[in-house]
Parts: sequence; structure tokens; C-alpha cells
Amino acid sequence: MKEGKAKTLFACDSCGSIFRKWSGQCPECHEWNTLREQQPPPSATYHGFSGEISQIQPISQVTFSNTPRINTGLSEFDRVLGGGLVRGSVVLLGGDPGVGKSTCLLQVCCQLSEEMKVLYVTGEESPQQIAMRARRLRLPDKHLLLMAETKVENICATALQVQPQIMVIDSIQTMHTEMFSSAPGSVPQVRESAALLTHFAKQHNIAVFLVGHVTKSGDLAGPRVLEHIIDVVCYFEGNSDSRFRVMRSVKNRFGAVNELGVFAMTESGLKEIRNPSAIFLSRLADPVPGSAVMVIWEGSRPLLVEAQALVDESHGESPRRITVGIELNRLIMLLAVLHRHCGIVTYTHDVFANVVGGVKINETAADLAIILAITSSLHDHPLPNDLIIFGEIGLAGEIRPVPNGRERLKEAVKHGFRRAIVPKANCPREKIPGLSIFAIEKLKDAVAIINDL
Ligand code: TYD
Ligand code: MG
Repeated sequence: MKEGKAKTLFACDSCGSIFRKWSGQCPECHEWNTLREQQPPPSATYHGFSGEISQIQPISQVTFSNTPRINTGLSEFDRVLGGGLVRGSVVLLGGDPGVGKSTCLLQVCCQLSEEMKVLYVTGEESPQQIAMRARRLRLPDKHLLLMAETKVENICATALQVQPQIMVIDSIQTMHTEMFSSAPGSVPQVRESAALLTHFAKQHNIAVFLVGHVTKSGDLAGPRVLEHIIDVVCYFEGNSDSRFRVMRSVKNRFGAVNELGVFAMTESGLKEIRNPSAIFLSRLADPVPGSAVMVIWEGSRPLLVEAQALVDESHGESPRRITVGIELNRLIMLLAVLHRHCGIVTYTHDVFANVVGGVKINETAADLAIILAITSSLHDHPLPNDLIIFGEIGLAGEIRPVPNGRERLKEAVKHGFRRAIVPKANCPREKIPGLSIFAIEKLKDAVAIINDL
């Protein structure tokens, strides 16, 4: 760029990416007509050496106190946060409208306000609505401070006076700052509001929860611009027709990611579920065709989940493949492997595959159970009630090992499973009491074992 010429930048309203050239379609997120001219923020100009020198020190001499964690009162929430809330950290809680973000944080805040100062800033619901909910849920509501406000500058000013240890912003999409004239919810407003609040929180050592709504495509509005300034990003998921809610962290500066917390939304609020395996098994007394139980690995623990398949004669031009909780392309690939390596044909059939309880599986360890649920439905041959299955399927029809095999098997035994089909390399050297294991190397072997059971 030539010197002296004012820099014109274009920002995408949808993803927040910045470009030097305008184009009709955003090169980053591929949305149309979302690029808008943007003035570069004043802070972006470089004024040269300011005369101040930052302190440097060897890393070994950096002192830190062991970060004390605040327990939120919901141990499943603590698990997702990596063992509790860290003081001065900023947590983004994202999710569909109505999934229960406000309910969750209201419960946490009321509980915590017994011991510390908590400020709940609402930009969506009125204080009356929130107070009514707290009373209906019989939460300890004596000390929680409520404020209806959407201007970030005012929130910071109030917080400075009140000095809370914990602050909730519900939601970041309703917030705006004087620095921009664009509407609340637009990318610059969301980004700048979040940046200001984060900066404020760090300066004053306040732990902040930001509530964020996800867009239709499942992203937080302006997710990329938010994620790097925030310490913890977690999502609240769940089907609207199921009362179960799953909370998952996708970024955590203070702990492991992909930790899973499981809750149920009841009439009396959000309840945590400490033994989640039980709810993801919809097991009937008599075995039915098309159902297989697998052990998936979520964060730091195994989880028993039921995979269901329905394979039905196809009457359309091309057979249908529909999945819930499983990636569609993965299913199509698995069906191809089933055809090529086992000679089992499904192209004359519609295939529906589902994971019970609204869990989303993103682990290849589920492959084998999904395929065996499909063959079970296709052949109308139920799998035994006490059979557990896991393993990854490769394109050569081989069954590949998965991490934490032994722990998965142990969890299955705990829940009363007596037989297991697992990858050969996952077969433990010592016997697990009460469990007989079929260790296999090829998908063909698994199909043969099933036929004899
Ligand atoms: P809410 O926390 O307002 O969702 P969000 O803040 O994520 O938009 O959750 C509202 C939903 O939860 C609403 O559909 C009703 C339901 N709900 C219950 O089933 N039981 C309850 O005790 C409460 C408070 C809400
Ligand atoms: Mg809400």
C-alpha cells in the first residue's frame, strides 16, 4: 500500500474478518454482501518507541500463586470449566436461544452471591422476569445484584462502584459501546463490547460470564473475533424436544477442552446429572434390531451411548441417508466400506442413524457400533442386551484401535455389560473379570460374530 494514502479496510458483518479489497462474497465465510467499509481503529496506528521499557524476566522466576478456583455449585459446570471458575477469567457461554443459558447462570449466581458479590447485567429480560424466575426456582436471592443495562461504559462505571467478584453479561449481542455507531449485535459492536469488558475484568480481577447466542449456522456471532480474547469458550447444546443439555468447552486456558457436562432441564430448573451414561441408554427389556451400545470418550471420561439405525427399503430415485448426532459423510463412507469389504449392499435402502439423548459424536471410535446397528436393522437381527462395541473403521475394512480402551471396557462392566467387540489392539492383556471380549481386526469378523450371537 502506498504511503500517505488512507487505508480503507473492509470488515465482514458475519465473521468479522478484515480485508483490504471489497468483494461481493466474503472470502473467509463465503457469505454474500457482508463486507462493509471500516475505518481502521485509532489504536492500530504505530507511534514509535514510547520511552517506556517493559520488564523482562526469566520464565523460571515468574511468580504466580496457585489459581484458586471458585466452585459454581454445579459440579458438572465446574468440570467443563476445568475444575471451577478462575478469578479474573472471562468465560463465554454460547448456545441456541432457550437452551438454558440464563437459567444456568442465574442458578450459579444466586448460589455464589451467598459468599461473594455478584452482579447480573441483563440486556434481554427485565429485572422483574429474572426475579420471578429466581423466586420460582427457590434460589437464594437475597444478595444477588441485578442491573438492566446495555451500554458497556455504564456497566463498567457501575461495576467500578460495586466492585463485584463475579459479573454476568446476558447477552453480549445486546451490548453496545459509544465507540461505534453500528447496531447492537453487529460484529464491531460485539467485538468491541467484549474486548472492553474483558479488559475491564482483567484490570479489576473480576470473573465475567458472557452469554452469547449462536447463529443459524451454529457459530457465535463474530466467533473468531471473540475467541482469542476470551479465556474459556463453552457451548450449551441440546435438542428442544429433549430435556437433556450438554455443556462442552471448546477452548480453555485453564484446563482440558472437550470436557462434557450433562444437565437436565426440569420444572425446578437445571439439574446436573452425575452419572450421564444412564441417560444415553434407552434400553428396552427385550433387545430390538438396529440398536448398539458404544463407549465414547468425552473429555476425561467414558460415556455409554446408544446408536440406533433404521434401514428400510428405498422407494425414491436415490436412497436417503439421514443422521442425527453423527456426521453424514462418515456414515456414507462406512456404508461404502460395508459394501466393498463385507459385500453387504445398502444402496437399495434408506439408512437413518441416530444417537440417543441428543449427543453429538465426533469420535471415530463410534464407527463400529454404528455399522453393526445398521447391519442389525438390515438383517432384522437384534444385538444382545449385554454387548458393548467400539472401534474405528478404516477404508481397507480394518478395525483400528482407539485411545483409552481399558477404561472404556471398565465403564461398560460397571454398567452391567458382559460382552464386548473391540479392536484387537485394544484387548487388554489381563482379563477383565465378568467380561468376555471379542478382539477383531477386520469388519468382516465383527459381522460374522454378530451373526452367531
Ligand atoms: P433460558 O435460560 O431463558 O434460555 P436462554 O437464556 O439460553 O435463552 O431457558 C428458557 C427455557 O428453559 C424455556 O424454554 C423454559 C425452560 N425452563 C424450564 O423448563 N424450567 C425452568 O425451571 C426454567 C427456568 C426454564
Ligand atoms: Mg437468556
